[in-house]
Amino acid sequence: MNNNEKVEALNKKRQEVMLGGGEDAIQKQKQSGKLTARERISLLLDPNSFNEYDLFAQHEAKDFGMMEKVLNGDGVIIGTGTIHNKPVCVFAQDFTVVGGSLGYMHAKKITKIQDVAMKMRVPCIGINDSGGARIQEGVSSLAGYGEIFYRNTQASGVIPQISVILGPCAGGAVYSPALTDFVFVVDKVSKMFITGPEVIKTVLGEEISQEDLGGARVHSEITGNAHFFAHNEQECFMQIRKLLSIIPQNNKNAADKNKTEKPTAKIDINNIVPIDPTKPYDVRDVIKAITDNSDFVEVMEKFAQNMVIGYGRIDGKTVGFVANQPYYLAGVLDVDCSDKAARFIRYCDAFNIPIVTLVDLPGYLPGVQQEHSGVIRHGAKILYAYSEASVPKITVILRKAYGGGYIAMGSRHLEADFVYAWPTAEIAVMGPQGAANIIFRKEIMAAENPDEMRKQKVEEYKQRFANPYVAAAKGYVDSVIKPAETREMLIHSLNVCENKAEIKTDKKHGIPPF
Ligand code: HXC
Repeated sequence: MNNNEKVEALNKKRQEVMLGGGEDAIQKQKQSGKLTARERISLLLDPNSFNEYDLFAQHEAKDFGMMEKVLNGDGVIIGTGTIHNKPVCVFAQDFTVVGGSLGYMHAKKITKIQDVAMKMRVPCIGINDSGGARIQEGVSSLAGYGEIFYRNTQASGVIPQISVILGPCAGGAVYSPALTDFVFVVDKVSKMFITGPEVIKTVLGEEISQEDLGGARVHSEITGNAHFFAHNEQECFMQIRKLLSIIPQNNKNAADKNKTEKPTAKIDINNIVPIDPTKPYDVRDVIKAITDNSDFVEVMEKFAQNMVIGYGRIDGKTVGFVANQPYYLAGVLDVDCSDKAARFIRYCDAFNIPIVTLVDLPGYLPGVQQEHSGVIRHGAKILYAYSEASVPKITVILRKAYGGGYIAMGSRHLEADFVYAWPTAEIAVMGPQGAANIIFRKEIMAAENPDEMRKQKVEEYKQRFANPYVAAAKGYVDSVIKPAETREMLIHSLNVCENKAEIKTDKKHGIPPF
């Protein structure tokens, strides 16, 4: 063979291997409503930016007829490429090759790209579509999972790790995504569970579909395992690209600073908070009235909606928003929203993203269900996360800041750098109704007209405590500001915090109430 013939042979060999499990398996993949692993990579990355590694990797398994089997790429594609011209590492499981099952070499390829991502300090994106541990390879497959989990944990807080669930992700395989920072799911495509419907039927005698057990909606709305929900794969890859445009590449670099843009949403920020304090409003309107271009990348939009979290830019710089949502359960703190906020705060802190907190909540959700679900343990996570975070912390109290909720939501007492309050703020131990009933109980009971007396006492309490000025007098609030001044004050505060340095106690690590 001369050199030209060798090049030609390489081309042919490449093309064969790149067909994965072959035409029939590709057709089956498409018929099940899924894209192929290669199509997925091209949608994710900048055009023609993918450099594939280990295309010719082969398994070395011998049992159960494996010796005769050639598995193209061993069922996973790995490599580097760019998103918005910045390097990323990627792996995509190829379901057309023995169901994307994970054997020893398959796992080696994944850990190889994880190691590259860590060494180069670039994001790592994993596309999961797999029948799980390759049964024929036994413990070697399990070893592979363990090595992936270990790397997920080592990389946590150093580089962004993104998991995309585009097919089955079952058994222990779910724990790699669960250890990563952002999990993306697609309606009708993603299936994620520890034990599948067949096992459930055998063990418990219950019938349930894969979709109802662990589909995209289940994980976006109920379990909180997923952070982004998309209607189709194309939308999902756009979401990933958008997210990566706003977060930093690693824990040492800041996110790209964009040109400053004014908010574009037509929102009258001075009148967002209704005059009647029992009326709700959408806190996302406040966010959109503050951010550049009114842009907001919301994370976990459909889970624990009483808390809104996500990223936006202020004066071109990325910030993380943590906001109570009066529109949903009046914005109370509960088990799920505590978990949601605490993890987000830790992410922002690890990646040097300043945190802007918007407060309007009546406190913690009362009730046996919450107590027995561990609201004490879960609620403590927010306190821990805020107290531990050393990034700039700026808090704006919009309306209610009652009781433990006042303390938990980025208060001065947890070392917020700036605390602002709108004139509509009410900072107190509890709401006026409840407070008046307790502290004026005797007067109310003894009155000729208890209802009238209660009304009078509620009014008295409101005058005294349900405002921002008592906290402002004590310096717990730095300034009471007009809502329309909020963006300006945030820009100022972020500038002051630019070189914030905090001296930390010397310890290996704390023990958060996980
Ligand atoms: C080996 C597998 C496989 C596996 C699928 N295949 N899963 N081969 N090991 N785990 C093969 C099938 O034999 C088939 O090969 C091809 O992939 C496509 O699979 P189908 O069943 O035809 O596809 P589909 O009907 O779409 O069903 C997909 C599926 C099903 C729901 C994922 O294949 C399935 O239930 N697989 C087993 C899932 C499982 O129990 N995994 C182990 C989990 S335990 P042919 O040659 O026929 O095309 C685990 C432990 C990890 O993962 C622990 C880590 C800590």
